Amino acid sequence: MSTTTSTHTIAVIGAGGKMGMRVSNNLQKTDHTVFYSENSPAGQERIAATGRTVTDTETAVTDADVVILAVPDVVLGAVSASVVPQLKSGAIVLTLDPAAAYANLLFKRDDIEYAVAHPCHPSVFVERHTPEEYADTFGGIAAKQEVVAALESENAEARQVAEEVIRVIYAPVIDVHWVTVKQLAYLEPTLVETVACMVGDLLREALHETVHTVGVPEAAARAMLLGHTQVALANTLKGDNPFSDACLIAMEYGRESIIKDDWKKIFSDDQLDHVITRMLHLKEIVR
Ligand SMILES: NC(=O)c1ccc[n+]([C@@H]2O[C@H](COP(=O)([O-])OP(=O)(O)OC[C@H]3O[C@@H](n4cnc5c(N)ncnc54)[C@H](O)[C@@H]3O)[C@@H](O)[C@H]2O)c1
Repeated sequence: MSTTTSTHTIAVIGAGGKMGMRVSNNLQKTDHTVFYSENSPAGQERIAATGRTVTDTETAVTDADVVILAVPDVVLGAVSASVVPQLKSGAIVLTLDPAAAYANLLFKRDDIEYAVAHPCHPSVFVERHTPEEYADTFGGIAAKQEVVAALESENAEARQVAEEVIRVIYAPVIDVHWVTVKQLAYLEPTLVETVACMVGDLLREALHETVHTVGVPEAAARAMLLGHTQVALANTLKGDNPFSDACLIAMEYGRESIIKDDWKKIFSDDQLDHVITRMLHLKEIVR
């Protein structure tokens, strides 16, 4: 792959939303020609407040090399059905979550490339130096992160253009990992939303019980939980230190009390379809 980057015409649809604003903030700093489309008045106000100009979707996408669909996943089918027919041949449609691509909801044209790119968010173990890097837990501002992406075709040129744009919208980016759409769907939702985000919410609930049911002062419980969360992750995922023998027994008790025996079923294709149909309010995934 060549390391030279070129300037592209890029359209951001949904530019006033959460991701739309984030990717637009980074695109605005580049030499790319960028058009921002947004259909809600509140989103349009957010765009105007940054000094960017809102363009109607038809104008925004006409000459676009890359169209970023930063709209909610549940409307991606309808939005792609109205946008994709207007694109020039060879354009890249870039979505920011694999669910809709996995569920075959995107309007298809043989002469259009389809890419998905999801930010990993900065690792809990990433080296941070400045206050800005510490504050940037989401990524895309100051803390370095990696990205996982998928391109539906094998087109190397399209992949290079997509990677150039991906490295800008999620900057600063350490690396872009290319996988299949299905592998990306197993990463998000299964690995990170179904498991990691759920476990994070379980920690929040456990803290609440410790404070409100048991009566431990919140500051003490919070300090104990946050420090031990770092130790738990460093020991299990980084191999920093072994757990004590007593801790291993408590962990086994926790697993018996909290985890269902068949929990690993979430890593099967029928369960992946199940969670994605639930997320996108679909009856079924049509293949
Ligand atoms: N929010 C996150 O943390 C996050 C993280 C990674 C990926 N994503 C993905 O990013 C995408 C966008 O999610 P979000 O959370 O930013 O959504 P959001 O609801 O915050 O923003 C979506 C924006 O799209 C606009 N919009 C809807 N239909 C439109 C249309 N037809 N034309 C123009 N604008 C339209 C809405 O008005 C809104 O401003 C989704 O695919 C989501 O899965 C989100």
